[in-house]
Parts: sequence; structure tokens; C-alpha cells
Amino acid sequence: MKMLEPITINGMKVPNRIMVPAMVTRLSGEDGHVTKEISDRYVRYAAGEVGLIVVEAMAIDGNKAGPLLRINEDRFIPGLAEMNRKIHDTSDSKVVPQLIHFLKISKSGWRQTVDMLSQEDIDNVVKRFGEAAARAREAGFDGIELHNAHAYTLASFVSRVNPRRDEYGGDTLEGRLRLIGRVMASVRQHVGNDFPVGIRYLSEEFVRGGYTVEDAKLIGLRMAQLGADYLSLSVGGKLEDAEHVPGHVKHAYSGYSGERCMPGYWFPPALHAHLGAEIKAFINAKGYHVPVIAAGKMSDPAIVEKVLSEGQLDMVAIARGLLADPDWVKKVRLSQIDRIVKCDYCNVCKQLDGTHMPVNCFLWPKGAVQAPAYDPDGKAPYWKGGNAGLSVTQNKLTGVVSWSKPEGSPVYYDIYRTEDDGTVSIVDAVKVTRWVDPMVMAGRRYRYYVRACDATGNASPPSETVVFEPTAPDFAGPVRQPAVV
Ligand SMILES: Cc1cc2nc3c(=O)[nH]c(=O)nc-3n(C[C@H](O)[C@H](O)[C@H](O)COP(=O)(O)O)c2cc1C
Repeated sequence: MKMLEPITINGMKVPNRIMVPAMVTRLSGEDGHVTKEISDRYVRYAAGEVGLIVVEAMAIDGNKAGPLLRINEDRFIPGLAEMNRKIHDTSDSKVVPQLIHFLKISKSGWRQTVDMLSQEDIDNVVKRFGEAAARAREAGFDGIELHNAHAYTLASFVSRVNPRRDEYGGDTLEGRLRLIGRVMASVRQHVGNDFPVGIRYLSEEFVRGGYTVEDAKLIGLRMAQLGADYLSLSVGGKLEDAEHVPGHVKHAYSGYSGERCMPGYWFPPALHAHLGAEIKAFINAKGYHVPVIAAGKMSDPAIVEKVLSEGQLDMVAIARGLLADPDWVKKVRLSQIDRIVKCDYCNVCKQLDGTHMPVNCFLWPKGAVQAPAYDPDGKAPYWKGGNAGLSVTQNKLTGVVSWSKPEGSPVYYDIYRTEDDGTVSIVDAVKVTRWVDPMVMAGRRYRYYVRACDATGNASPPSETVVFEPTAPDFAGPVRQPAVV
């Protein structure tokens, strides 16, 4: 399988094509030190054989930011080094930190913007990225990643809505690219050319006036020219459209751009892969072969394999899917795809991040701080006689599916559905024995079945199937039948 093939990134031998991109865990204290919980979280990804682990955004300066890792002083090196040792002792996974600089923001709704930075402030950002990169190398990371995405300082310079009007200004592309160019030079000065330096940036900003893939192709080309060793693409996550809840700082993922960044269950899978493919094709055509990686609802192994084997991307970044099941890669390798805990994109993790609560997955057993350990001998739940007592009834304009509790240790249930006898897909995962389908249309036929899963994704055989043909007596207009050709 293409996804299990290794890839070498500036000397860093990544054992497969799957990356877990940065995901803040909110498991650190405000002091920014690595805690046991944080270390365990990343060691868990290594145990699950994830090719490249990007450790959550860590601050390169002393700005306040709630619970967030820090790498702005040498005293943080020993904790990071200890975590890296454990990761490397666990598997061949490679590990890089995401280095972040962000601007000030207050609960009043005020926020610092890039036009408020003096030349000295900018010089300081450049210097601090270099110094943090050197600390990362000393701490035993295999490389680093620069956070040039979302609402943070570097991305705010590259943005099309950068409000500066000087040589770093938003009115020219070269102006927008100046800071990242200086940062790359500083980083190389500190870590040399033989240390992998990846850059995360946006393939689309998804805010009014923000840049689209057209700029992203040129930005990617410049990053390649600057000697970036990989490009990891995200989208959106901006403060320009973030909501302000009085008494709280704006959360960069609360507006539409934030929804695009961490798309919920109602968005299609792999929705941004085509942007990555376009950027990769553009850069490759200019003679640069820097690996291009993208994220965004790609946790179905068939989709991941298609995107990679067709050469659309060089690696796939899976965030929430690997949070749900850090053993994703291992299970693919062992042909246990059926046993993967499948993310249902409910975004409970996103909400926890937004409220600075420890990030976990809704599908884990209640109260778990980490994903349950891989259990090769785990027994799937089952219904006696194979009968789950599945039923479906109409309640107003919804279908209500319910079933009985199985034997064994069920933790959650995957709901499978077809529309008009089409393709079967998992439409949700729940922890109770009832599910309401609000997405039914009168005149169509739905079939449902459920599978009960234990903590590590061992799924029962499918329950019996029920058929539902909703009616809508108060349906507002006539329904025309399709033309017979
Ligand atoms: C809880 C949470 C925390 C995140 N933290 C970061 C972060 O620190 N840095 C970053 O670049 N992206 C962050 N992201 C975005 C993810 O890396 C990823 O781009 C996004 O979730 C889409 O990928 P997915 O559909 O595979 O989840 C975070 C996402 C989540 C859900």
C-alpha cells in the first residue's frame, strides 16, 4: 500500500505516509512544561506506528496563552528531550514540534494585529524562531515545523488581509512573504541545512478578502525556494471571522473559517485534498519536489490510499481520526481496518480545545485521558441470537432508530445507513441505544443497521437491517417524478 511506504524528508526516514498534525491537547499547565499526560499522548501515537508525529503548537516567546507547551527558554529542553526519548524508544515514528508565535489578544475583544508590530518586534520574532529551532534540535526532535497557518503571526503576514503598508505589507505578495523568508534564514542559521524544517500554511484562508489556492500555489513555491523540507496544508482558522463571547478571548476556530479548518460531520470527506493536489502539481511543474501534505477529513483508509496512490499528495495528515484511534496505522498494516475507531467528526475535541479543557475523544470510554491501549485479543460485543431488536419509527420529520444493549462491553455504536439502496456509509456514532436521523426526505428509502463497538473499535457483526420510508404529510409543494429517459 502506498500509505505504508516510507518517505525520506531531508534525511529524516519517516516509516510511512501518515502524519498526525499538530493538535493542542490542553494537557500542559500554564507553565508550558511537558507533563506525563502530554508525553503519554505522543508516545501513544508512536505505539500506533504513526509515521510523523507533530507535537502540538509550542510557544517561542513568553506571551500568555493558557495551557500551551513552551520552547522559549532552555529550561523547557529537558522535558521535551525526555518525551522524545520515549517516543524514539517506542517505534520508528519521527517527531517534530510545531513552533508558534502569536499576537496578543484580550477578553475585551481587542487583538493585536500585524500592523501594530515595530521593526524591533519583527526582528525579535525572527530571532526567537531561530533560537527555538536550536532548542528543538538540542531536545532530540527529528526536525521542526513552523506554524505559518491559521490566526497566528506568520500566517497573518502572509495573509491577503495583512493590513501593513510597508515592506512587510499586505498590498504586495513579496511584502507578505518577507517575514517567512527572514524566519527561514534565521532558522537555517541556527540548525543548519541538514535538519528537516517543514512549514504549515493555508491552502485557502476562507475569510472575506482572504487568499485562495491561487496565492497558495505561489506561497508554496516560495517556501520550496526557501528550502522548506515539507509543506503541510491546512485551511481557515482565522480571527477575522471569529465570534466574540463577552468575557472570553476570541477563539480562532469559532467562525466559518474555523469550521473549514476542523470540518464537522456535515462536510464531505477529503474536502480540501484537491487544493493540495493543485499546489503540489504547480510546485512540481516548477521543478521542486518538496513533499506536500494536507489535512481535512481523510480518515477512511480507502480515501487516504486513493489520494496517495494517485499522487495527489505525498503524505496525508489525519488529526481527529488519529485522536480517535492512534492505532490507525497499525490496524491498517495488520489488515484490521474493520477495528479502527472511526472518527464521526462530532467536534467535541474542538470544543474542548476552544474552552481550554483537556482534549479527548468522545468515542473513548468516559473519563479516559488517553485512547485505550491496543488489545489484539479484545472480544467484540454481540447480540444474543444476532438480533439487536432494531426498529425505526417516524417522529415528525425525523426517523428514530433504536436497538437493545448487546452482551460484552459496548462503548459506542456506529450507525450505518443507505439512501435509496445506494452506498452504505457510517453516518454517526453514539453512546446510547437510540439515534435520531434529521436528514430524511419524504419519498426516499432508508436502510439502517448498527454495530456495537468496544473501547478499541472491536465491532460486533452488523445488526439486522430496518427499512424506513418517511412520509411528510405537511410537505409544502408537489414532488415531480424524475423523467424517464
Ligand atoms: C483539538 C484540536 C487542536 C488543534 N490544534 C492545532 C494546532 O495546535 N496547530 C495546528 O496547526 N492545527 C491544529 N489543529 C488542526 C488540525 O491539525 C487539522 O488541521 C484539522 O483538525 C483538520 O484535520 P482532520 O480533519 O484530520 O481533523 C487542531 C485540531 C483540533 C481538532
